[in-house]
Amino acid sequence: MCKVFPLDFPLQAWYYAIKHFRTKADYWMTKIKTDLYLGDCLEVLANFADDSFDLIMTSPPYADRRSKTYGGISPDEYVAWFTPRAEEFLRVLKPSGTFILNIKEQAVDGERHTYVIELILAMKKQGWLWTEEFVWHKKNCYPGKWPNRFRDAWERCLQFNKSRKFNMYQEAVMVPMGDWAEKRLKNLSKTDQSRDTSKVGSGFGKNVSNWVDRQMAYPTNVLHLATETGNRKHSAVFPKSLPEWFIRLFTKENDWVLDPFAGSGTTCQVAQKLLRNSVGIEILPEYYQLARENIKLTQYQLFEEDQNAVHYTTGDH
Ligand SMILES: C[S@@+](CC[C@H](N)C(=O)[O-])C[C@H]1O[C@@H](n2cnc3c(N)ncnc32)[C@H](O)[C@@H]1O
Repeated sequence: MCKVFPLDFPLQAWYYAIKHFRTKADYWMTKIKTDLYLGDCLEVLANFADDSFDLIMTSPPYADRRSKTYGGISPDEYVAWFTPRAEEFLRVLKPSGTFILNIKEQAVDGERHTYVIELILAMKKQGWLWTEEFVWHKKNCYPGKWPNRFRDAWERCLQFNKSRKFNMYQEAVMVPMGDWAEKRLKNLSKTDQSRDTSKVGSGFGKNVSNWVDRQMAYPTNVLHLATETGNRKHSAVFPKSLPEWFIRLFTKENDWVLDPFAGSGTTCQVAQKLLRNSVGIEILPEYYQLARENIKLTQYQLFEEDQNAVHYTTGDH
C-alpha cells in the first residue's frame, strides 16, 4: 500500500491539498516582468500580439499643456493624433480587459476645449465602450485666483472596455464605512428600511438597511487622492495611489498592465509592487532612463523585503 498517496484520502481533502500546493508553488515560482521600451507607442505596440493586456492605465501628453517639456499636441489636432494609438490599444487589450485614460481638457480662449468629448465619440466609433467616468479629486490642490473660473481640482479617468463583460475585483478597493454609518445608518427613514426603486425609472433600487453593521463599503466613482508634491524629475507624474487603485480594481496578480505613455514609470513601479507584469513605453530618452532607474529602485526595495519569494526580471529595450 502506498503511504505517500493514501487512496483512502477523502476526495475533498485531495482537492484542497492540490489547490494549496499549487498556490504555494505559483507563489514561490512567480516571475514578475517589467519591460520598458523606448519609442512611440504606436510603433512599439505593432510588435505585440492581439489581446495581450488586462489593463491599460495611462496619462497621455495633454494638449499643448507642457510643450516646453515633451512636445504638446494642439487641442485641435488631438483626436487625429490619439485615435491611431487608441486603435492599437483596442487591439492589444484582452476582451476581458479595461482601459483607463487619465485626461483633462484645458480652457482655450476663455472656454473649455471639447477635444476630450470629441475623443470619446471617436473612440466609440472605433468600437470602444465608454463604460464609466471616474473623477480624480486632487484633494491637496493649492489655492489660486483666475478672473473667470476657480482652480481646477479634478481630472477625468475615463474607463473604456472592449466588451460589457470585463474583469472587475470590487472587493479589492472596498473602504471603511466611516462616520457615514454612524450618522445615516443609525436613523433610517421608512424608505431606507425597504428596497427603494429609482424614481427616474432606471430599474435600479437600493436598500440602505442592508449596510447596517457592516464595516466596509464599496467606494464611489470619485477618488479623493493627493497629488504628489515631491520632485520626481518629471513634470506630469501622477501619484502612485492613482494607478494602484485601478490596478487593484481591474487586475489580479500575474496579470499584464500596459502604460503606453509611461513617463517616469509610475504605473510600472506600482504594477511591480502589486505582483503584476507590466510594459511601459516612453518616447523621450531622458524619461525612459528615469523610468528605468525608478523601476530598479522598486525592484531593489521588493527584493530586500522578500528575498526568496519573488524573482523579478526587467527587460529593457
Ligand atoms: C503625462 S506624461 C506621463 C507621466 C506618467 N504617468 C508618470 O507618472 O510619470 C506623458 C508621457 O508620454 C510621453 N509620450 C508622448 N508621446 C508619446 C508617444 N507617442 N509614445 C510614448 N510616449 C509618449 C511623454 O514624453 C511623457 O513622458
